[in-house]
Order: sequence, then structure tokens, then C-alpha cells
Amino acid sequence: MAKALVVYCTRTGETKAIAELIAEGVRFQGAEAEVVNVTEIKKEQDLQGYDGYAFGSATYHGQMMQGMQTMLFLAEKANLEGKAGGSFGAFGWSGEAPDRIYDTMKNIFKMDMVSGPLRLKSASLGGGTQMAQDYGKGIGKKLGG
Ligand SMILES: Cc1cc2nc3c(=O)[nH]c(=O)nc-3n(C[C@H](O)[C@H](O)[C@H](O)COP(=O)(O)O)c2cc1C
Repeated sequence: MAKALVVYCTRTGETKAIAELIAEGVRFQGAEAEVVNVTEIKKEQDLQGYDGYAFGSATYHGQMMQGMQTMLFLAEKANLEGKAGGSFGAFGWSGEAPDRIYDTMKNIFKMDMVSGPLRLKSASLGGGTQMAQDYGKGIGKKLGG
């Protein structure tokens, strides 16, 4: 069965909630999904063995969080070319993090990206739950589901 890895970087938990919903969407399409905190990714091997990836960070001070920046340098060495990819994150007003992650996955890692980054103010407000699950379904579809 195809398998996706959903990695989140959060300060107050909103981005983790989005990650869980994305994983639900992936599973809905019949693929497996594992959700991990970015702190659990310590070496490039921790990123290997999956068919698709969603990387997410909240935006603070106009940037992705430090933990996600560090993980992207590890991911650069993990040979993710051609794998399905998406990016996400909770934000307040500008939401740069998911955009920057998406651009890195597309341009540097050369992944097979879904339509665009997912930026949500909250997983639980304004249709956020549905949007996050649908985003996961989009990744699941790329995995053949
Ligand atoms: C000190 C601080 C700085 C922030 N800077 C930004 C920012 O530059 N742009 C933005 O869109 N949101 C910003 N936010 C809002 C957070 O992105 C928002 O609260 C988000 O839901 C946090 O997600 P998390 O629970 O995953 O950490 C900031 C919040 C705080 C407390």
C-alpha cells in the first residue's frame, strides 16, 4: 500500500491539527499516512520509504519555523525527486511558511506537487476541516488512490 509522511512544525498546535486532517484525507483515498512532529526527523533516513510527503509549518515573523528550515536541509539529501508532495500551515495574516516550503519542494527537490500550498487560519474554523481533508485526498490521489 502506498504511504505518505506528514511532518508538522508548530508552536501552539494549530499546524498539528491540520496535519492530522491531511492524513485522514490521504487514508480516505486508500493510502497509509503517518503524522510526525518535525522534532522526530533527525536524519535523512527518517524521511525515506514513503511515496508522498506533506510538510507543514506555522508562520512566525514572516517565516517558517526553525525546525522546518533545518528539516528541509535534511530533505535535500533524501532524494525525493518525483515523489508526491504538498505543503501546509496555520497562519494569522501573511502565511509565508507554506508558500516557501512548497517552492522548495517543487524547485529544489523536484517533487510532483499538488496544486498549491494549503494555508489555514485554523483547522476548525471557516471550512478548514474540509479543506485540510480535501488537501490530503489530493495527495492520496497522486499515490494512486
Ligand atoms: C509572535 C508571533 C508572530 C507571528 N507572526 C506571524 C506572521 O508573520 N504571519 C502570519 O501570518 N502569522 C503570524 N503569527 C500567527 C501564527 O502563525 C498563528 O497564530 C498560527 O495559528 C500559529 O500556528 P501553530 O499553532 O501551528 O504554531 C504570529 C504569531 C505570533 C504569536
